[in-house]
This record gives sequence, C-alpha cells and structure tokens, in this order.
Amino acid sequence: MEKRITTNNETPIVVGLDIGTTKICVTVGRRSGTNKIEVLGVGYAESSGVNRGMVANIQKTVSSITQAVEAASVQSNVNINIVHVGIAGQHIKSLQHRGILTRKDDTEINRKDIEQLVEDMYKLVLPPGEEIIHVLPQEFTIDNEPGIKDPIGMAGRRMEANFHIISGHVSAVKNIQKCVAKANLEAQELILEPLASSEAVLDEAEKDAGVVLVDIGGGTTDVAIFHEGIIRHTAVIPLGGNIVTEDVKQGCSVLRNQAELLKIRFGSALADENRDNEIISVPGLRGRDHKEISVKNLAYIIQARMEEIIEHVYYEIKSSGYERKLIGGIVITGGGAQLKHLVQLVEYVTGLDCRIGFPNEHLAKNEELPKKVFDELKSPLYATGIGLLIKGIEAAEYNADSKEKPGKLDVVGISERGRSRFGFLDRIVKFISDDSNVNVDDKEYTK
Ligand SMILES: Nc1ncnc2c1ncn2[C@@H]1O[C@H](COP(=O)(O)OP(=O)(O)OP(=O)(O)O)[C@@H](O)[C@H]1O
Ligand SMILES: [Mg+2]
Repeated sequence: MEKRITTNNETPIVVGLDIGTTKICVTVGRRSGTNKIEVLGVGYAESSGVNRGMVANIQKTVSSITQAVEAASVQSNVNINIVHVGIAGQHIKSLQHRGILTRKDDTEINRKDIEQLVEDMYKLVLPPGEEIIHVLPQEFTIDNEPGIKDPIGMAGRRMEANFHIISGHVSAVKNIQKCVAKANLEAQELILEPLASSEAVLDEAEKDAGVVLVDIGGGTTDVAIFHEGIIRHTAVIPLGGNIVTEDVKQGCSVLRNQAELLKIRFGSALADENRDNEIISVPGLRGRDHKEISVKNLAYIIQARMEEIIEHVYYEIKSSGYERKLIGGIVITGGGAQLKHLVQLVEYVTGLDCRIGFPNEHLAKNEELPKKVFDELKSPLYATGIGLLIKGIEAAEYNADSKEKPGKLDVVGISERGRSRFGFLDRIVKFISDDSNVNVDDKEYTK
C-alpha cells in the first residue's frame, strides 16, 4: 500500500506507544489548525508480555507492538518509524534535588545556564542499576530571590534550582528499548506514563490550582501531583484493575474472563449503593449449574480492593506535603477509572474533590478518522496514548523551531546518551517559546 507520510519527515506527525499491562496502544497524530490535537489513527493489541507495567516477555510484547503499529499505520496511512514510548512500573522512583550554578558575571540568564544546571543533575550518583529518566526543573532562586518560575532574561550571578528527578531500573528501560528495536522502530524518548496521562486530561488551570492525577491501569496505579503549574510528586503503585478482577475470580469462584465481565458490567466501588436482592446468574462450567452472585457481595469484594488502592494514593498525597494545597482535587483516569461509584469512593476516602479525566479535551476531529474511532478516544483507557502523542508533538514542534531559529536550544544536540531528554525541557520549552530573540551566551561557566 502506498503510504502518504512517514513519521520522520518534516511534517510533525508523531506516534505515541503505550505499552500497558492489558493493552498496547499506538496513537498517530499531529497539531490541528485550531491548536488542538488531531488523531489520524489508533491501533491496539492485547498485551500479554507485560507485568505490572514492566516488560516481562520480550517476544510477546514485540508481537503485540507490531500488531498495534500495523493497525495504526493502516488507519492513519502513515509509515511508522519513530515512537514516543511510555514507561511505568514499581521500579520508578522520584526524588527532589537542588542544583547551584555560579555564573561569571550577572549578565542575562539564558537557556544555556538552565541546560548546564540540568546537565549537572544527570551526573547525580544513583544506586547501582538505576538511571535517570526525567530531570524536571521546578523553581529557581536567583541571587537569593526564591520562587522564580522563568529566570530567562533576568540578571543574576548565583542560580539555584529545585529539580524533580525521575529514575528507573536500567534493565526495565533496556527491555522497553529492546522491544521497540525488535519491532523495527526507534524510540525517540521515554516518557513517564503519569506525566503523559496528565497532559491528556488536565488543563493548566487545574495544574496551577493543585491537582492529583491518578491513572488506574490494569497493573499499576500511577500518581502525579501538580501545584502552581509544577510537577511536585510522582509515584507508581503496583496495584490496578487486574488485581480487582483476581479478587472477584476468587471471591465468586468464577473464571477470569467471567470475573472481568462481572466487574465491568455489574461492578461497583460502593457496596451500600447496591440493593440486597439483585442477583446475577453466571453460566456454570461445562454444563454445570448456573452460579448466583449477589451484586452487593460483588461490590463488597471490589470496594475492599479499591479502598486499599485509594489508601495508597492518599498516602502518596500526604507524603508529598501538598494535601492541603490541592484545590483541583483528584482526577482519575485509565481503564480502572470507569468503575461505577469510584468517584464517590475516592471522595469518601480522601476527602478531596474528584472527577473522571477524559482524554478528548484536547482533541479535534480529523475528517478521515471514522466517527466511531474518534468517539472511542474519549475513553479514559486512552489517556496515556493520547498524552504520549501530545508530549511527542510538543517535542517535535520544539525541535523544528530550534532548527529554524539556531539560537534556540537544539534538543537533538544534547541527546548524546542514546535517548532524547525532552522531559526536562517540558518547562523550559514554555519558558523560552516566546523568547526567540535571546542570544545564546557562550561564555564559560564557573561552578
Ligand atoms: N468499565 C470498567 N469498569 C471497571 N474497570 C474497567 C472498566 N473498563 C476497563 N476496566 C479495567 O481497566 C484496566 C485496564 O486499564 P488500562 O487499559 O488503562 O490499563 P493498561 O494501560 O493496559 O495497564 P497499566 O497502565 O497498568 O500498565 C483493566 O484492569 C480493566 O479491567
Ligand atoms: Mg496504562
């Protein structure tokens, strides 16, 4: 089939690859004329080689990736070569670190100063077997003046910055890269999944007010906390929808696929919202009698596990120190967010306001994408896939912009470690996007 476009040509058409525990999802898209995101195609495949967000079987994962990529390629009519891949799993850790740079004089601060500070963070010594995935600048202190979000253009000699650093196991990173390479793709960058999901379902006002993003997937529940527009805390909890299904399977003595169906069709996160006399009849195994299951009992099983998961989330909120600063409350997304009465349970356990995050807020309809597919993208299941696409588009646009304006930081030029580090540029991109006239100062730095 004749392909129209390739993903590595000049048109910033970008591909997101979400390697989830239950499904692998490939999203192809670009920026629309109305400054929204236009999805050109989606492909997904069942994921059987991923365990709690981490690749456990390379062969199975490669085969699912290939299947999903092929489907997305056919639907979008785009040749897929380069992908923006999500990473999650219990191995992910986050820490805060402070960097200091003493400049030679107090001329205007430029992005090279910030780049220098970020580069220094990559030199942090981590425990063996761990590597840095993202370095996210938070706030700067310039000559003892704290709380500066955008220092570019300011005069100052002593620059200090707080960083949110996200690290993961080298082996987990390598396994993802291996799968991507074996599927004949190139991973442009690795993006922490909760950061991607945040991009899809939160808006700037919420991030400013203070908000918790909770992505309840099949294998993990991912948490990202924002306040004053800055990422403050990230965590990956190794429990998700699959363990709820497992509880239903054991509690109701049914098969796994029956348990999944019971959860999705009749499940609820609040037992008290269900009537005692509602009974579901489940077909017995190979001619055996039907099994009768009370909807209320089913809800009790689900509620117990969901409470445990929300308690873990609440613990993360409390340990972040932002519990009382979250005016935006909690936004739940991911497949597990579709569980009936979950919003109420989250509000009940945490005392915080809660809503479901749908990833269609930033989407515009592409004429060629079937309406049915576009409508499906509204599901919280696609939050990470759409978020990876958005992050990828931002990075591609930034890259194109740097080429046009050589004075800008060239992202390609600093990715010599074999992977791009757009992540740390998240905020910098915003800082400098309307500051194209700043000349890069090549003077030496002292530290
Ligand atoms: N209507 C529903 N009610 C309750 N749970 C649901 C519903 N629909 C899907 N789920 C659950 O959502 C989970 C899958 O969500 P999702 O696709 O976001 O996970 P994933 O991305 O594959 O996994 P992970 O992010 O953990 O690696 C499954 O456990 C599934 O049972
Ligand atoms: Mg997921």
